[in-house]
Amino acid sequence: MKRDFLTLKDYSCDEIEYILELSRLIKKDKNKYGNVLDGKNIAMLFDKHSTRTRISFEAGINQLGGKALILDSKSLQLGRGETYKDTAEIFSLYVDGVIIRTFKQETVEIFAKYGNIPVINGLTDKYHPCQILADMLTLKELGLLNKNLKFTYIGDSNNVTNSLIIGFLKFGIGITVASPEKYSPSKEILEYASNRKDGIKIKIMHDPAEAVKDADVVYTDVWLSMGEEMDNNKLKELKNYQVNSGLLMHAKKEVKVMHCLPAHRGQEITGEVLDGKNSIILKQAENRIHAQKGLLAYLYRD
Ligand code: CP
Ligand code: NVA
Repeated sequence: MKRDFLTLKDYSCDEIEYILELSRLIKKDKNKYGNVLDGKNIAMLFDKHSTRTRISFEAGINQLGGKALILDSKSLQLGRGETYKDTAEIFSLYVDGVIIRTFKQETVEIFAKYGNIPVINGLTDKYHPCQILADMLTLKELGLLNKNLKFTYIGDSNNVTNSLIIGFLKFGIGITVASPEKYSPSKEILEYASNRKDGIKIKIMHDPAEAVKDADVVYTDVWLSMGEEMDNNKLKELKNYQVNSGLLMHAKKEVKVMHCLPAHRGQEITGEVLDGKNSIILKQAENRIHAQKGLLAYLYRD
């Protein structure tokens, strides 16, 4: 049976651990599982900009023996109104899988429902699960992916925040999110997070200094995600949530700083912190390729 990767909600902690283990082995030996995609064509349908996701998937697919087809909706008949249902059925006749970066989560769900090939979510307005695989791999390598981790996300609650919350809760790790009230995680995510038997919690805060107190990891992301209009008020409201050296004084001395990139230097994070000694941002970016190869190996192994 084909398996999709639309949200971490659909994966158990054991399954994610297994993908991370495959990723670790692949990182150690670039040619590991080098024929898992032999003779396979994987379409990449990207309706939003991308540097990391696009390049790491394309290179990763090549390294696993497959071929990537780079597509966008505008130049397909989708741009002239052909439905996602019909498109998914057609894709299934020609290719062996599809990675989609688009706006609505519903779009990847329709593809998964009507296509009979694996569908991977390469980012929607709601989730960015591939990013979180790389983030978890990065934390695991540093010995930080455990229940004692104090992890704080600062800024706008967005697709990356949602997937971080889901991923960490799966691992039984609590997470603190500090945003202005208006930009806190959605009701849907909070409900998901509160329906847990193990008591692991998401803590919603509004004071960034208090939220990073004793943090092992501080994570941030852009204040305006792709698809959002320029909003000067939002930028003003988030001004006090910048990750800068002053804010980090409240965290542990050896705090690690994470950002999925691309960053707006001087907005949600200062250049000094992004490039500084506490930053593990480039490790995260590097791990995108290893984690996604791990995911592909998981989905396509016999
Ligand atoms: N982090 C991330 O997904 O980067 P891109 O938008 O460049 O793919
Ligand atoms: N939240 C950002 C993530 C980019 C990788 C966005 O959706 O634009």
